[in-house]
Amino acid sequence: MAKKRDFLAISDFSRDDLKQLLERACSLKSGVDRAQLTGKTLAMIFRKSSTRTRVSFQVGMSQLGGHAIFLSDSDSQIGRGESVHDTAKVLSRYVDGIMIRTFAHAEVEEFARHASVPVINGLTDLLHPCQIIADLQTMAEEFGREHAARTVAWIGDGNNMANSWLNAAYRLGFSLRLACPEGYDPEPELLARAQREADVVLTRDRSEAVQGADVVTTDVWASMGQEEEEAERMEAFETFLVDESLMGQAAPSAIFLHCLPAHRGEEVTAGVIDGPQSRIFDEAENRLHAQKAIMLELMA
Ligand code: CP
Ligand code: NVA
Repeated sequence: MAKKRDFLAISDFSRDDLKQLLERACSLKSGVDRAQLTGKTLAMIFRKSSTRTRVSFQVGMSQLGGHAIFLSDSDSQIGRGESVHDTAKVLSRYVDGIMIRTFAHAEVEEFARHASVPVINGLTDLLHPCQIIADLQTMAEEFGREHAARTVAWIGDGNNMANSWLNAAYRLGFSLRLACPEGYDPEPELLARAQREADVVLTRDRSEAVQGADVVTTDVWASMGQEEEEAERMEAFETFLVDESLMGQAAPSAIFLHCLPAHRGEEVTAGVIDGPQSRIFDEAENRLHAQKAIMLELMA
């Protein structure tokens, strides 16, 4: 039997795998690829809230001829403390794949170790790889498939999204400029690895990060699980918002991306997120196509 594959981080896929995955996401979107997962079932464990991830996986599975089951802490034994070990083994006897969104990245890794079916990371405190596939697809739609020729500017928190952009730069070799306030840098190991493979710069100056960039992207200042730090974070990130004057320093053809949910007037002005350079709804739609490509790759 072939060894099962998991998708816990962008770096789980080689550069060629990633390129193929993006091709497939585009073919699924255009209707050219009609592959199916007939009769297959995905279990979706959500230990944090979700709109896009939950709906795109569930709709994606149904469009592929399969079925998805939603499990949360409040209505499964996971919330009552049943071990990751037992849950992973039990679910593997029923379903063909498991998607999990949780806090500690180590929990997803432990899940993958014990599950005999593919495990997909639907977001952890460390990484959000499924979102980045959709973002790379949105970039390809705008600028073509040669990601390595582009520059991405990340403004704000060195969070799970920033870490996943680092992994994508590491794999695909595009330029990445991150502007993060002191104390909110991305994961040092992921930064160092990306810096060895690609042109990756970390700065405290948002203007420096966006000069000539093709993509300007940001995220909330307090992620899920950081609610208690909110006041302190609002102060630290005050000068790291994406506004019209910042977008004016990027390339004239630059696009704005945000994984959503967003706080208009906080990390991004309404003028930018609702403006002509914003591609946020294409990006959100692409979650569906990207998710289908990921499930086909792992579960077919
Ligand atoms: N971008 C994203 O993952 O959205 P949800 O939290 O709604 O799933
Ligand atoms: N960084 C955000 C992303 C939400 C999709 C969070 O983790 O809450």
